[in-house]
This record gives sequence, structure tokens and C-alpha cells, in this order.
Amino acid sequence: MAELDPRAAGGKRLKGKICVVTGAGQGIGRATAKRLGEEGGTIVVADRVDEGATQTVAALQGAGATALKVLVDLSTFAGAQEMINKAVEAYGRVDVLVNNVGGTIFIKPYHLYAEDEVRMELERSLYPTMWCCLAALPVMMTQKSGSIVNVGSQSTRGLYRLPYATSKGGILALTKVMAMEYGRYGIRINAMAPGGTEIADRVVPRQFIKPGMTVEEPEDEAGYRREMAEDIRNQQALRRRGLPEEQAAAIAFLASDDASFITGQVINCSGGQS
Ligand SMILES: NC(=O)c1ccc[n+]([C@@H]2O[C@H](COP(=O)([O-])OP(=O)(O)OC[C@H]3O[C@@H](n4cnc5c(N)ncnc54)[C@H](O)[C@@H]3O)[C@@H](O)[C@H]2O)c1
Repeated sequence: MAELDPRAAGGKRLKGKICVVTGAGQGIGRATAKRLGEEGGTIVVADRVDEGATQTVAALQGAGATALKVLVDLSTFAGAQEMINKAVEAYGRVDVLVNNVGGTIFIKPYHLYAEDEVRMELERSLYPTMWCCLAALPVMMTQKSGSIVNVGSQSTRGLYRLPYATSKGGILALTKVMAMEYGRYGIRINAMAPGGTEIADRVVPRQFIKPGMTVEEPEDEAGYRREMAEDIRNQQALRRRGLPEEQAAAIAFLASDDASFITGQVINCSGGQS
């Protein structure tokens, strides 16, 4: 039967698209890489941890998708530039960029953060998205097309991770501003903001800063973490944690041409938390 809407492409909405997914070595990033691969995309799996990235590439290739592993530290512009250069060298273009790297390192009230801890949080959860957009925009501007999906968070209205929440608030702001500045080049920029999501395939814990450096979880953190979790549950309509695959489904929609007239928007994938 002929397809009624050619954009549906037989359920393969990312067919022929080059999709870069950051932090694709585990969790929501890996689920997104798999979903975009299932939908026909060629996937650039970017992470700084070889073990997780290798597993993701193997899963994609095992399912018949084309995938390229790129090991980079995206907390620097040089790392982001290298990732985009490798994608362009291999495939000639970048159609989709999913900025997924992020995640709180500490859980505690703001007055207990040291200066270097605040910096580490911004380096984990704000800068990678800024650097990856800065590196990808010139490529997408030349193409006169592209879809960027930034991963936000419900933490912007939550407890005990203020520097992380500030980073994610920044991501929502840059999503809106970038959409206004680059729509004229045919580039769409949206965000997907997850609520608490169960990650079963962690290769590295959130306290992993970089190879050879892991921070200690403070003794009193368990209490703050319990209170934070209770606060999240109380805000939710669907009283459960999400699955990475549920986040990936929302990202795939925004990345695809099904969202061709949507830009500068946020989808809250949070069980009704927001
Ligand atoms: N899991 C949740 O409950 C939840 C809730 C709200 C928002 N989020 C957001 O969703 C995104 C993914 O969350 P997750 O829980 O799947 O994360 P995760 O910590 O399980 O995985 C993050 C991946 O990013 C990689 N990474 C981290 N820093 C990097 C860097 N500088 N360069 C390259 N790779 C780097 C890690 O190696 C890892 O593979 C994050 O932005 C997070 O803030 C998650």
C-alpha cells in the first residue's frame, strides 16, 4: 500500500538521517541511540567512556543499524568540535543532534556546595550542550537543515541539586533563543525534560567525574536523596519512575520530521510532574 504521508517512511522516521547522540554509552542516551537506529537513523555514539559506548555500538550493529563510536570529553569545546568533525568526515552531514550528556553529581542543599563542586556540575550539565550546539550549528547552517534535541530536567522545580537545576534551566533558555536565531536556516531546536527515570544499565555512577576521578557521596546524602525522591513523587500524576525508552520515544518524535513545524518547545516527559 502506498504511504499516505511520505514522512512516515514506513515507521522509519529517521531513515537516511545522520544522528549524533551524546552520552550514548548508557541510560537515556543509549535508549535514544537504539530508538533512532530502529527508526532507520545512522548513529554516531558519542561518550567519554569506552565500555558503555562499545556496548551501545554493538547493540545497534546487532540490530542492523549503522553506528560509529566517538570517544570524546564534551565538557570542552575541543571535544565537541572533534565529535562533529568525525561525524562529518564519516557521513558528510549531521541531521540530528541529541544533547543528552548531563546529570547531577551531588544531592544536597546549596549552602553545602564548594566552589569546585558548583563548577563540576556546570561542566557536566550545561557546557556540553552549549559546546555541541556551537560545533554543530555551522554544519547545519550550511545544510540549511537540522534538528537539535536538548535534554532538560524537572529539577528546575526540585530540591537539593541547585547547580544542576541551574544548568538545566540554562538549557531551556538556550533552546528557546537558539530556535529564534536559527529557524531562518531551517534548523529546529527543542528540548525534552525527563522526570525521574530508572537507569538499569549504568556503566559509570553519577559520582564519576572523569577517568581516574570519582567524588565521594557525603554521609548525609541519603536523607536528602529520600526527601528529593518524595518531593518528586508528590508532584507526579503517574506515581512511578519513567523508563529510558519512554524518554527516547519523546526525543525521537522531536528529532523526526513528524515535528517539522515544532521549534523552541519543551516536552515534559515526567508522568505529569510539570
Ligand atoms: N535519569 C534521570 O532520572 C534523569 C532525570 C531528569 C533528567 N535526566 C537527564 O537525562 C540525561 C541522561 O541521564 P541518564 O540518567 O541517562 O545519565 P547517565 O549518567 O546514566 O549517563 C550519562 C552518559 O553521559 C556520559 N558523559 C557524561 N559526561 C560526559 C562528557 N563530559 N563527555 C562525554 N560523555 C559524557 C557518561 O559517560 C554516560 O555514559 C542527562 O542530561 C540527565 O540530566 C535524567
